[in-house]
Amino acid sequence: MSMPDDWHVHYRDGNMLRMVTPLVRKRFWHTLAMPNLDPPIVTNERASAYKEAIHTSSPDEHDMYNKPTHVSLYLAETLDPQEVANAPEHVKAIKYYPAGLTTNSEKGITDPSALWTRGTRAHEVLCAAAEKKIVVCLHAADGKNAHGVELDPYDQEPHFMAESLPRIRDAHPKLKISAEHLSTKQGADYMLKHGGPLLGCSLTAHHLLLDRRDVFRGGFRPHRSWMPAIQSIEHTEALRDLAGKGLPFVWLGSDSAPHSQAKKESDCCASGVMMAHAGIELYAEAFDNMNALDDRFENFACRNGARFFNVTDGHKDKKRPSIHLQRLKWKVRKPFMVWNDTDELQHYDVVPFRLGEEIEWTLS
Ligand code: NCD
Ligand code: ZN
Repeated sequence: MSMPDDWHVHYRDGNMLRMVTPLVRKRFWHTLAMPNLDPPIVTNERASAYKEAIHTSSPDEHDMYNKPTHVSLYLAETLDPQEVANAPEHVKAIKYYPAGLTTNSEKGITDPSALWTRGTRAHEVLCAAAEKKIVVCLHAADGKNAHGVELDPYDQEPHFMAESLPRIRDAHPKLKISAEHLSTKQGADYMLKHGGPLLGCSLTAHHLLLDRRDVFRGGFRPHRSWMPAIQSIEHTEALRDLAGKGLPFVWLGSDSAPHSQAKKESDCCASGVMMAHAGIELYAEAFDNMNALDDRFENFACRNGARFFNVTDGHKDKKRPSIHLQRLKWKVRKPFMVWNDTDELQHYDVVPFRLGEEIEWTLS
């Protein structure tokens, strides 16, 4: 098949970036890097420096320069709409984080109504994005209901789909919106009803492969914990149905999000798990389970996102290579070791998804 694209990946920075980049770039052609670094990426200057850092973090720099890397800006209260208006070609998205709902989201938006209320900075940013035809990627979750009451984590995405997304779309009718890592039946239903040239979504392999029983089997499993949370089987099945329909507004975004083992196995387990070591293999498994390893898989992985993010015309895209996937099991044997950024004599481990277990497909 053609080399696929990953429209939602956390490369991180420092030595973690050096560990992640080769794994991602072995598998993916276009990639969209997420901006939730500490501090977050809120200027074009930093976005460009980050793109450069991703490129130079590969041992094979020449190869890297041939692969299209896109970056996103973080929709913080401090993001200046002028930055969006002046964004360079490689800034392909603005990422919305509801404050406090996931990793490094503290600088995100505290009140989602800012997105649809004239006069706020966030509203101006979305207007600038619509004008410049830059996609806004939404972490589609609300933290509170209209009365200010904290929502149950399993209700955050359904609430956003019912209350926030329609208002954002009404306020910005020309804006291109991607709802990221859909996790619920309500999300899938919303896409079936409203998906099209201006609205699409990314799906992760973990939301297609797992359901809530897997997260709590025998006790809580921190290395199966993301935000948005894995939901019950009815939701997983709705996401599988959506993926299996072969719709043009549904695409691959792995949300590979590595953390140190210490941050995962802690009093407050960090959201996110590394998927990059098997970034495409796990999707092959998910689509194989759905009997959808045909054009639907290739469109989902290689075409739909590229079309939505408007990258299909560039000369680089014409050079897109092929990859070969085989139905051949392998075992994830070891954690990944990363040297500490501040003390390079120390290192820590990152536990990848399915450590000690098998993956059904091999990239050869
Ligand atoms: C992501 C991370 O670790 O950066 N975590 C996650 O659970 N998906 C942040 C995000 O995309 O929500
Ligand atoms: Zn993410």
